Amino acid sequence: MHKTRIGIIGCGNVSANYLRHAPLFPGIEVAAVADLDMSRARERAEQFEIPRACTVEQLLTDPDIELVVNLTVPKAHYSVAMGAMEAGKHVFNEKPLAATRDEGQRLVDAAHEKGLRLGGAPETFLGSGQQAARRAIDDGLIGRPVAGTAFMMSPGPEAWHPDPDFFYQYGGGPLFDMGPYYLMSLLHLLGPVRQVTAAAGIQKPDRTIGSGERAGEALVVETPDHIAGVITFESGAIVTLVTSFAVRAHRHAPIEIYGTDASLSVPDPNGFDGEVLLCEQRRGEWKPIAMNYCQGYGRSVGVADMAASIHNGREHRASGVQALAVLDLMEAFLESARSGCAVAPRVPYQRPAPMPEGLEPGQMD
Ligand SMILES: NC(=O)c1ccc[n+]([C@@H]2O[C@H](COP(=O)([O-])OP(=O)(O)OC[C@H]3O[C@@H](n4cnc5c(N)ncnc54)[C@H](O)[C@@H]3O)[C@@H](O)[C@H]2O)c1
Repeated sequence: MHKTRIGIIGCGNVSANYLRHAPLFPGIEVAAVADLDMSRARERAEQFEIPRACTVEQLLTDPDIELVVNLTVPKAHYSVAMGAMEAGKHVFNEKPLAATRDEGQRLVDAAHEKGLRLGGAPETFLGSGQQAARRAIDDGLIGRPVAGTAFMMSPGPEAWHPDPDFFYQYGGGPLFDMGPYYLMSLLHLLGPVRQVTAAAGIQKPDRTIGSGERAGEALVVETPDHIAGVITFESGAIVTLVTSFAVRAHRHAPIEIYGTDASLSVPDPNGFDGEVLLCEQRRGEWKPIAMNYCQGYGRSVGVADMAASIHNGREHRASGVQALAVLDLMEAFLESARSGCAVAPRVPYQRPAPMPEGLEPGQMD
């Protein structure tokens, strides 16, 4: 089997998650890690026994590295990915694909022009929970999907995060931080979108850092902390999506899809597994559906799928085009909230191929 040699740029929080799960996939091998802060790169290399910690430039000039995983902060996603593509590497970006739709589009165009692959998180839809939910819908278990709800609501991260400023700056907020999981899941389940409408506000402007050295310091909230939207899919299904950092507690399920024959409860899209429940009657019993998809994936599965796709000559599933469609929808929500008008997506979306059933852990098609 071909082993794709990978370089990771950005050795912060989420890199540990990628490095922990990468060894599950025999088709990829992390050959080097890099960060602006060399001490972070060295620390991760030591912790996960990666042969090389180096600068970004050294990583990009290493001819053995075929694919770069970009785990830097959102505002650096564009420049790091473009630099890697200019060095002839395939790139997989963490979410969001870029800070703006225009930057994301330029990345997609560059990959196309250079004949390189561009991938983008979230790839949680490759997990057993989301795949089984898609299968249930595709097999007609709920009839025709007519509506749905998706809720990501919390009080915000400042109680536990020691440096939460970026969550409340433009490019942050609950929509850009957590919305990608929900939007990617909804697109994967229901297909392309016709239009979105939204209302958004800064509902809780007074916030204080709750932990770490800056505990007690006031936060500046620049971007909406509550965004309520309605998505009309091309199929006609109408889905309500609320993302909020202004809700202390609630009892809504993460995602429910309502069909003409039954309702479906979809597991948290910020995870890979979870039970999919089906209910056919009002006040009826919610029953788990049987599934035969590989469980236990974590971050790195999208990278492994992309590496396998390059060598097997198929499309990769967590694609940059798809991540751009998500970024486009997030911008559309804010545009609609500002203008009071419905906004149509500018980026077309096509559902990726489903994962095959019955794969062994680490196996790719
Ligand atoms: N933390 C999480 O649980 C989590 C979960 C899912 C997705 N993400 C996404 O992953 C990305 C990284 O998040 P994080 O929490 O690991 O952030 P982080 O701040 O902990 O780490 C980012 C790292 O990138 C480095 N970096 C920044 N700019 C760079 C550049 N130009 N070149 C090289 N290195 C650079 C920083 O020095 C830092 O070490 C973000 O896009 C975030 O949205 C994070």
